[in-house]
Amino acid sequence: RYGRQEELGSLHGIPLYKCFVEGWPQVEDFQARPDDLLIATYPKSGTTWLSEILDMIYHDGDVEKCRRDAIFNRVPFLEMKVPEMLTPCPAGVELLEKTPSPRLVKTHLPIQLLPTSFWDKNCKVIYMARNPKDVVISYYYFYQMAKIHPDPGTLNEFLETFMAAGVGLAYGSWYEHVRGWWEKKQEKQLLYLFYEDMKKDPQQEVQKILRFLGKEVAEGTVARILHHTSFQEMRKNPAANYETMPTAFMDHSLSPFLRKGISGDWKNHFTVAQNERFDRHYREHMEGSDLHFQMEV
Ligand code: PPS
Repeated sequence: RYGRQEELGSLHGIPLYKCFVEGWPQVEDFQARPDDLLIATYPKSGTTWLSEILDMIYHDGDVEKCRRDAIFNRVPFLEMKVPEMLTPCPAGVELLEKTPSPRLVKTHLPIQLLPTSFWDKNCKVIYMARNPKDVVISYYYFYQMAKIHPDPGTLNEFLETFMAAGVGLAYGSWYEHVRGWWEKKQEKQLLYLFYEDMKKDPQQEVQKILRFLGKEVAEGTVARILHHTSFQEMRKNPAANYETMPTAFMDHSLSPFLRKGISGDWKNHFTVAQNERFDRHYREHMEGSDLHFQMEV
């Protein structure tokens, strides 16, 4: 039986699940195709939401087609490699090789680790970022329900883990991640979106995506996409809510994958002291950047 992992491995200095590190040689050599669309995020920033929106766009708002399989099979997770005992689950790369073009590809890799083939083939990228206070809360619950993570400890301990971005934080520093991808948008075909904007005005954000893809959709399709990808709809959709993952891997009784889906949930968790400490840390680590996050929503 698959049990909670005690510690993370390390991939070129970035803390990451040991099984992903083992699968890395295959990922590093991944051959992107020019019409691949890469969905890149730091964990817990709206990846699944954006993936469902894009699959709907790719299928012209056909809800039934978007129920054909679980989201993690429709939008394969590039660097994913499941532990031995959960096989025959294919690795992300193997799944991608069997996926017909045009493919949607999910990754949480920091920019410096992205397989170079994506840049060589000039693939389009959509990056979604979310404010770090909501990310850390969402991640805290995810650490509890997904056994691939070490025990996160108390929330206070996890806040320290997040800020220190040391060996206990899968994918490493949030700051380096969001800033690294932000800087790349000057030179690449990269659309940089924010979870908070998507919450506030999903129609406007979907239109942005359509413009970026150079795609037009029939009247009514956008409305159908918005309805199907609302938190309420996705939460009850087994193809979108991860409930088909083996319980040994994700235990939804500890916390559902689609947990709250709001901006500002950090206010229900942070103490005043924790918030002040986090704000100080945030200011220090975002200094000199023109990248800004909406924490007050
Ligand atoms: S993962 O595991 O990193 O791929 O997770 P990810 O999908 O990036 O993030 C999960 C959080 O996104 C929320 N979510 C949504 N919010 C609003 N609307 C929709 N449709 C939606 N779908 C997913 C999900 O609830 C997680 O956030 P929290 O704050 O924990 O609820």
